[in-house]
Amino acid sequence: MGGNSNLQDSRNARADEFYTPLSLIENELKNYKKQFEGKTILCNCDDPRVSNFFRYFVMQFESLGLKKVIATCYKNNNPDLFSTEETEKAVYLEYDGSIKYSREEDFEKIPCKELKGNGDYKSSECIKFLDESDIVCTNPPFSKMKNFLPFLMEKNKKFLILGNLNHATWVETFPYFFENKVWCGYTDGHFWFQVPDSYEEKSTDYKMVDGIKYRRMGNICWFTNLEVAKRHEILETGKKFNPENYQKYDSYDAIDIGKNVDIPMDYDGVMGVPITFLTKHNPEQFKLIGELHTGKGNPYDFAFPKVNGKNKYVRLLIQRRK
Ligand SMILES: C[S@@+](CC[C@H](N)C(=O)[O-])C[C@H]1O[C@@H](n2cnc3c(N)ncnc32)[C@H](O)[C@@H]1O
Repeated sequence: MGGNSNLQDSRNARADEFYTPLSLIENELKNYKKQFEGKTILCNCDDPRVSNFFRYFVMQFESLGLKKVIATCYKNNNPDLFSTEETEKAVYLEYDGSIKYSREEDFEKIPCKELKGNGDYKSSECIKFLDESDIVCTNPPFSKMKNFLPFLMEKNKKFLILGNLNHATWVETFPYFFENKVWCGYTDGHFWFQVPDSYEEKSTDYKMVDGIKYRRMGNICWFTNLEVAKRHEILETGKKFNPENYQKYDSYDAIDIGKNVDIPMDYDGVMGVPITFLTKHNPEQFKLIGELHTGKGNPYDFAFPKVNGKNKYVRLLIQRRK
């Protein structure tokens, strides 16, 4: 058993190695300028000098009016390389703006310091950085999201982290969305991420550009508990309910809606909608009731989504507020 779980750990670790493009960070972060002013930012899953998160905050240090940026990495003691998680050593960088950044080479001037442990975000020395920080901003290992997001909530931290919409449907994370404590940011969709050369190309979702390998990942979104203006916008589809166009689930009293653009604006009952609805959710307009997922083991998950015996993908259950 131990051997199998080690194998699974290393598979997970390999699948976690994909690196966020600067443009994805810029497009999201431009919406939070005021909220970052005077703040200390922690990037706690980031190989310091290669992380575009750290790079972004150093480059925008003055324009955002930041106080400090800290980047810690995991099982990597080379600040200029991506982690292969082959060592128990790790490093971190702190930047307080005293070294002026104006060009790429200036990154080299930021001193690299050694951590005592391996840089696990839950280690005591990383928790000290967390306590010192106001906002955590990173793309965490997706295989550990079940623990990472609840960990930040338990620590009462503000955060803006990259994830996959499916992560919001888990028993560990769904309650935070249900209780309106965590929501989606502004950008979402399919994006290309740099991956290590060792990644196997299994599908068309890989490409090489200038000798660098990229992988396309779907349903990418931002999870945050920072204020997002978009979640106060009213969704308007122009659709009206007509029983001929909307079918009910086999074992749950709600109508099935395959596309968000088909949500009827005048239906008062419960509706099952795609998980992408979360990126449009305005809690003043709709109430999140639960989900149709597996129907097992999660108090918010009421049934498996089936219509006339046909399986449907995971659905969120929503109801119009009167
Ligand atoms: C999806 S990658 C993203 C890297 C970087 N944040 C970026 O956006 O380019 C997730 C990173 O988390 C690191 N990681 C894995 N387990 C970790 C842990 N327990 N604590 C901190 N970092 C971890 C991995 O080494 C990996 O580099």
